[in-house]
Amino acid sequence: MPNNYPSLFEQLKAKTHTAHQEVEKWGYGKEIQEDTLTLAQYQQLLWINYNWHSYYESILDSLFSYDFQTKIQYSSRKKLPLLTQELQLRNWHLPPLFSRKPKTFSFFEGLGILYVMEGSTLGGIYIYKKLSNHFEISQFPVLFYGCYGKETAHKWRTLKEYIKAEVSSEKEQSLVIRGAKEAFETIKILFQESRSKSQEAS
Ligand code: HEM
Repeated sequence: MPNNYPSLFEQLKAKTHTAHQEVEKWGYGKEIQEDTLTLAQYQQLLWINYNWHSYYESILDSLFSYDFQTKIQYSSRKKLPLLTQELQLRNWHLPPLFSRKPKTFSFFEGLGILYVMEGSTLGGIYIYKKLSNHFEISQFPVLFYGCYGKETAHKWRTLKEYIKAEVSSEKEQSLVIRGAKEAFETIKILFQESRSKSQEAS
C-alpha cells in the first residue's frame, strides 16, 4: 500500500510556512532584500540571534544524550561561540539575556527546535551574500550568517536523516512539529519586543 501520509519534513515545512514568513517580516527581511539594513538593525539581528540561540542551546544541551550529540556532531552546530566572537570583534556588548520561565521539552520537541535552528542557516546563505556587499557591515567579518559556507547543504541533509531516524510514530511527529512552532514563535516574540523598544526610544 502506498503511504500517502505526508513525510515529516513536508509537514514541518508546510506547518511552519506562515511562521517563517512572519519571522522574515519581523526580522528585517525586506531591509535585507532591498539593501537598506542599517548597522543598528544588524546589531539587533545579532543580539536577537544571540538570545534565541543561548536560550535553546542550553535546553538542547541537557535534552540530548551524549551519544546523540556525538552522532549529529552537535557541538559543530552550535552558533553561540560565533555570535559571541562576531559581537566582540565589532565592539558590541553581549545583549542582556531575556528572562523566560524555564520550560520543559520532550526529546522530540527538541528535534523540532533543532530543525528550526539549523534550517535558519539556509536563508543565512542568502543573507550572507547581501551583507558581504553592505559597505558598513562588511568592514568586519560576517561570521554568523553563512556560517557553514559550502558545508550548508551537507549539514542540512545529514541533520534531516538523523532526525528522521529518531521519529517513528505520528505522536512523535506531532511533538517535533510542536517544538518547531515554539522555536519560531520565540524568535518572533524577540523581534517584536526589540522593535517595539527601539520605536519607544526613537
Ligand atoms: C530574512 C530572513 C530570512 C530569509 C530571507 C530566509 C530565507 C530562507 C530560504 C530562501 C529558505 C529555503 C532555502 C532552501 O530551500 O534551499 C529558508 C529555509 C528555512 N528557513 Fe529561513 N529565512 C530567513 C529567516 C529565518 C529564520 C530567522 C529562521 C528560524 C527562526 C528560519 C528558518 C528556516 C527553516 C527551518 C528553513 C527550512 C525549511 C525546510 O526546507 O523545511 N529562516 N529560509
